[in-house]
Order: sequence, then structure tokens, then C-alpha cells
Amino acid sequence: MAQQFYSLSVKDISKTTPDCAVVSFDVPESLQPEFEFRQGQHLTLKTNIAGEEVRRSYSLCSSPFDKEWKVAVKKIDGGVFSGFVNDELKAGDVLDVMNPHGNFFVEPKPEAQIHYVAFAAGSGITPIYSILKTHLQAEPNAHFSLFYTNQNVSSIILKEEIEALKNQYLDRFEPYFFLTQEERDVTLFNGRMNEEKLEKISQYFLDLPTVDHFFLCGPEELIFMIRDYLVKKGVDEKKIHFELFTTAAGQKRMRKAATAQTVSENMSEITIKEGGKNFKFKMARDSESILEAALRHNSGLPFACKGGVCCTCKAKLVEGKVDMEVNYALEKEQVEAGYILTCQAIPLTETIVVDFDQ
Ligand code: FES
Repeated sequence: MAQQFYSLSVKDISKTTPDCAVVSFDVPESLQPEFEFRQGQHLTLKTNIAGEEVRRSYSLCSSPFDKEWKVAVKKIDGGVFSGFVNDELKAGDVLDVMNPHGNFFVEPKPEAQIHYVAFAAGSGITPIYSILKTHLQAEPNAHFSLFYTNQNVSSIILKEEIEALKNQYLDRFEPYFFLTQEERDVTLFNGRMNEEKLEKISQYFLDLPTVDHFFLCGPEELIFMIRDYLVKKGVDEKKIHFELFTTAAGQKRMRKAATAQTVSENMSEITIKEGGKNFKFKMARDSESILEAALRHNSGLPFACKGGVCCTCKAKLVEGKVDMEVNYALEKEQVEAGYILTCQAIPLTETIVVDFDQ
């Protein structure tokens, strides 16, 4: 489904922790087909703040069964958008919201006995909460173990909701809370997640070979540490699904783009197909991403993170070759089928045709 923004009003806004607001949107019935979503997907929000367009992606922290569109926005230091949401946004305000997207999910199999394991840190819980709530409801025999790290008890996002699920699915859902700035009696649960803790977790709480799917969400460093540990222990990479916060590495292209020069050699002709229309322009190779160049030519292409994480800028490469610096969003099968992240794609050939409608 084509990615585009729709104006939605804020139905409700409340705090799950002192610095994290949960925003729910009013999706009119006529738009609900466009806003159908899968557990673990996200919404891109857009507004003008102090005269500048700002857009950010946030994972939905509701389940598709809820028929609710909710995101949790944690206030970060100096965060323009997160500060606006936490301090100024109120019920009734209108934001531009892109229809849901993202690949961070697996199909529920109602009859199967599946063991899911999730590792989350901080606001990384939001897609994980959507995922675990959905699987527990859709699969009566599914089992879910959650290992969730926060600074202290008061910073645990969606704590009450997780506890309510624990009460509802007593014998199928096991949440374990880890705190980095508060000490409790069991030392395993104190401090950052690291290899030593993962060893103990695998020893006491998990039988790694019998786990069907692992979901990881949090900062890059943590997620890669857990992924590498699991791979080292023989877990098939196909079972490991992860979603990162925006990465510094992935945004390198943006900095390059600011200084991109148009030179007469090594030019590529780019054709963008979007919304049934073709749009053509020329760009210098190895200077900036196709998305950046298209935006400079005033195209209204969809994007959010520009860091290879959110998948909003996904399109199919119909002709030509590109190089992607990072890809944290597309599955191997999608890459094989010709999909690219245009925010990471640098043209390698003279002619490139990219289709956003496929
Ligand atoms: S804009 Fe997020 S992956 Fe390209």
C-alpha cells in the first residue's frame, strides 16, 4: 500500500512514565482500511515546529486486535519532536500521520506451540509489547519470555500494561525486569544486559535451541551484542528479528548530502515512479542517496529516519544498480526481490528506475 500522510487528530494523550507520553489517534472509519497494521509496525508522524517540518517514526504499542492506534514517545534530551509531544501536544490537536509500515513481525500461527523470546531496552519495548500482546492473543499455545532493561522502576515504559498481560496469561507469559540504576536482591536483575547475563539467562530461563523466534529492540550496540551472542550459541539468524533506534552510521549519507556537488561526469539519470507518475532527474554518483537527491528536486517521497532503519523509503529497483550503505530494515528475501532503501541507495549505473508503487 502506498505510503502517504493523513491528518489525524489526537484522541488521547497520557503519561506512561514522567517523560514518556502515550498518544492515541482517532482514525475515522473511512481511513481504517489504510491504517490496518501488523504487530511491530510503526507510524511516521509529521508536523511543523518553529517553522520547520519535523518527522519521526514511532512503533505502535497497541495490538491490531485492539483497533487502537497508539504510540509511546519518550522525551529525549534536546529532542525537538519528543519534547513537543511530551510538553505541548494535547487531545484534539492534529498531526500528519503516515499509514503503518515496517517488517518487524512474523505471522501468527494459531494452532502452533511457539516459544517467543524478546529482549528490549527503554522505549524499545513499544513494538515488542505490540508483538507479545498479539501473539499471546492469537496463539493459545504460544509462550512468551520478555527480558526488559530500564534505568529504574519509574522509567519502565508500559509497566502496568505488561503486568496486566502477566495476570491475564499467567502460565504463558514471563516478563523479567532488569534495572541499571536501582539495586534489587537478585543480582542477575541489576545492571546492564551483557554476555555474562545472557549466559545466565540461557542457563536458568531459556533453552535456546527450542526458541522459535527472538525479537530484539533497543539501541544498536545492545541489539548487536545480543544478536552476536545468539549466533555464537548456534541460533539460526533467520530466527532473530531486530529493530534498531536510528543509527549514527546510517545517517552518514545525510551529512554527505549537505555537501553534494553536481558534476558533469559520473552522472546518473534517475526515474522515480510514484503515485502512478514518473519523475526524472540527474544526480552525481557517489555523492548522496537517491532519496536525498529526489527531495532536493522537491519530490514528496516518503521517509522518516533516513538511517536505514524504519523502511519508510522502501522502493523496488526496476532498472540499474545501487549500493546500500546500511540496511537494518529489509529482509534478505526483499533485497533478493529487488527492494532497496532509497535513503541508503547510491547509484552505480547511468540509468536507474525506482518504483515506489510496488
Ligand atoms: S527513511 Fe528510514 S530506512 Fe530510509
